Amino acid sequence: MSTVKCIGILTSGGDAPGMNAAIRAVTRSAIYNGLSVKGIYRGYRGLVMDEIEEFKSQNVSNIIQMGGTILKTARCKEFMTPEGRKIAYENMQKHGIEALVVIGGDGSLTGARIFAQEYNIPCIGLPGTIDNDLYGTDTTIGYDTALNTILDAVDKIRDTATSHDRLFFVEVMGRDAGFLALNGAIAAGAEAAIIPEFSTEVDQLEEFIKIGFRKSKSSSIVLVAESELTGGAMHYAERVKNEYPQYDVRVTILGHLQRGGRPTANDRILASRLGAAAIDAIMEDQRNVMIGIENDDIVYVPFSKAIKNDKPIKRELVNLLRELSI
Ligand code: F6P
Repeated sequence: MSTVKCIGILTSGGDAPGMNAAIRAVTRSAIYNGLSVKGIYRGYRGLVMDEIEEFKSQNVSNIIQMGGTILKTARCKEFMTPEGRKIAYENMQKHGIEALVVIGGDGSLTGARIFAQEYNIPCIGLPGTIDNDLYGTDTTIGYDTALNTILDAVDKIRDTATSHDRLFFVEVMGRDAGFLALNGAIAAGAEAAIIPEFSTEVDQLEEFIKIGFRKSKSSSIVLVAESELTGGAMHYAERVKNEYPQYDVRVTILGHLQRGGRPTANDRILASRLGAAAIDAIMEDQRNVMIGIENDDIVYVPFSKAIKNDKPIKRELVNLLRELSI
């Protein structure tokens, strides 16, 4: 059993809908189990700059339905240096924080891993990113909400695309992962998705045009995952203008609106389960693991696995999209 009596909690990296539900779950589960909680503001920056305050149950009232993160978030350069992490550790000691719960994506968990190794602190990660790109968990907090936001936008774009017989390239987020683009395309009934995972394998635009996307349709929507590997939606629109000038092309870049909004029921439930499991893990004396969900079961994934491995895209989904878009 663990000897930890006080935990710190922070959100780091890009915000994701459901982070507040996770903050609430971690805080209340901790208090329920007799631990005290310190809220750390602006991610690792708050640890370095000493922006830390005691969190009681009331601090997390009425937030489960809110997008963003009440703890705020940041990408902190100081924490990437040994000097910055030393100050962070000293501030943790000053506030009596014995374990950390970090809610964030790849970069945030990498920071937690280094910090944990350097100072022998139990760190528990929660996968909080709309990108869904963390290995060892079926989904991440925020992904479902972002998918639904994309769906809503693409449904609207379809109205105008159909009315004008246009080809639309809709760029979605995901950093270097194509989960939002591919599953967004399947859910929205889009004609194709261009994703980084296959960008070196095939010319996805040529493939899409060759399949004959206009055989039975006068308008089309292609979701393009942002990424240097795909080149983004503008790149494909330019190519179509040059290579297939017969098509009337338009581009929509959805951008940061994908990160906002009220979390879906799925994200709230996921965040609540993962948040409570983070406290279970601390009570069991687990350290340096990300809490994930696999086949509806809570799993502990060592940081080394969650961060180092690329989460694979199912080829079956790529084929499904192709099959259903004829
Ligand atoms: O990781 C989440 C994410 O929204 C990515 O999809 C995107 O590439 C990136 O963050 C954008 O970051 P920023 O808000 O710093 O521009």
